[in-house]
Amino acid sequence: METTQLAPSFIVTGGCGFVGSNLVAQLQQRVPGCHVIVIDSMRTGTFQTLVDACQRCGEHFRGEVLAKGVGEVLWDWLLKEHKPRAVFHLGAITDTTVDDEAVMIEQNAGLAWRVIVSACAERDVPLVYASSAATYGTPGQALRKEPFPEDAAGRPNNVYGFSKWLMEQVHRRISAERVSLGEKQPWIIGLRFFNVFGPGESHKGSMASMAYQLTKQILAGGRPRLFEFGEQARDQVSVDDIVGICLASAGLGERGDPKPGIYNAGSGKVTSFEDVASAVRSGLGIAQAERPTEFIPMPASIRRFYQDYTCADMSLAASGLGFKPMHDPVEAIASYARWIADTEDGMSVE
Ligand SMILES: NC(=O)c1ccc[n+]([C@@H]2O[C@H](COP(=O)([O-])OP(=O)(O)OC[C@H]3O[C@@H](n4cnc5c(N)ncnc54)[C@H](O)[C@@H]3O)[C@@H](O)[C@H]2O)c1
Repeated sequence: METTQLAPSFIVTGGCGFVGSNLVAQLQQRVPGCHVIVIDSMRTGTFQTLVDACQRCGEHFRGEVLAKGVGEVLWDWLLKEHKPRAVFHLGAITDTTVDDEAVMIEQNAGLAWRVIVSACAERDVPLVYASSAATYGTPGQALRKEPFPEDAAGRPNNVYGFSKWLMEQVHRRISAERVSLGEKQPWIIGLRFFNVFGPGESHKGSMASMAYQLTKQILAGGRPRLFEFGEQARDQVSVDDIVGICLASAGLGERGDPKPGIYNAGSGKVTSFEDVASAVRSGLGIAQAERPTEFIPMPASIRRFYQDYTCADMSLAASGLGFKPMHDPVEAIASYARWIADTEDGMSVE
C-alpha cells in the first residue's frame, strides 16, 4: 500500500507570545503543511497575538495549542507521539522586574527545563531555546563599549538574567554528560536574544521594546521620554532577524548542520536611545523640533542593575550557524513605528 509522508511537526513553547507567535507564523510559511504544537501557559501571551502573527503572513494558525505550563507537559510522551523536527523553547517569565527569585528561577530554569533538555537529547530532537543578553550584566566590554563575545557572560544584574544563565548551565551539563558517555553532542542551541522589537509585542506593556514605548508616547500626542541623556545604547534587533536565527539554529536556514552551542542573537549594532527616538520620529514623519525628547532622571533603584550598553558580537553565529542579521535597526525601527501608526497595534496605543 502506498503511504504518504506527513509534513513535519514542530513544538513551540511560548508560541502565543511576541517572538513565539512570529516564529510559528514563519514556520508555517517556511515548511508548508507543517503541524505546529504551541505550548503556552498564557501568562503573558494571548490567542490574539498568535492569530495576528499568522494573519500578517497571510495565513491562519493551523496547529494546536496546549494551554499549559511547560512543567505540566509529559515531554517524553509528547516527543514520542509527535516526533517533532525541532522544539523551540521560548516560554518564560519575561517581566524582568519580577523580584520573587524563587518563582523566576523555578519557572524559567527549574526541573521542567531539565526534563525538556534530557528528553530532546534522549530522542535526538533538535532543541533551540531563548537565553538573553541579560546573562552578561555589565561586563568589561560594556565599559569599553565593545561587542560582547559569548564568553563574557555570567555575571547577570537581575534574577531574570540569572535564570537564563542557569538554563545555559543545565544545557552545558547535559551535553557534557552525553559526550562523556561516548554519545554525540546533542543538537541543542541557546540563543542570547538582545533587545527585540517588532510587530506582536503590544501585550507586553511596560516590557515592550523602547521602539514601541516611544512610538506610543508620540502617537498619544506627547514627547518621547528617556532617561538622562539618552546616550544609553543597546543592541536593538528586529524580530524578523530573531525568527531567522531560530530557524537557522533548527537547520532551516542556509546551513542544514548548525553547530550546537550558545550564541548571541542581536543585530551586531549599537543604537542609542536618542537614536531610537529619532528613528521613531522619522518613521512617523515628525520633526525633532516638533517633539523634542524629554529627559528624566534615572531612579537609583534602577541604576543599580541597568545595562547602559549592550552589543552582540555576531561572529560566532556567522561561523556556527551560518546566520547574519539582515535588518539595519534604525531603518527597521522607523518602518516599525510607521506600521504601528497604520495598524490596529497603533489603535491600542494609549
Ligand atoms: N523580547 C526580548 O527583547 C527578549 C530578550 C531576551 C530574551 N527574550 C526571551 O525570549 C522569549 C520570548 O519572549 P517574548 O519577548 O516573546 O515575551 P512574551 O512574554 O511575549 O512571551 C513569553 C511567552 O511564554 C509564555 N509562558 C510563560 N511562562 C510559561 C511557562 N511556564 N510555560 C509555557 N509558557 C509560558 C507566556 O504566556 C508568553 O506567551 C523568552 O524566553 C524571553 O525570556 C526576549
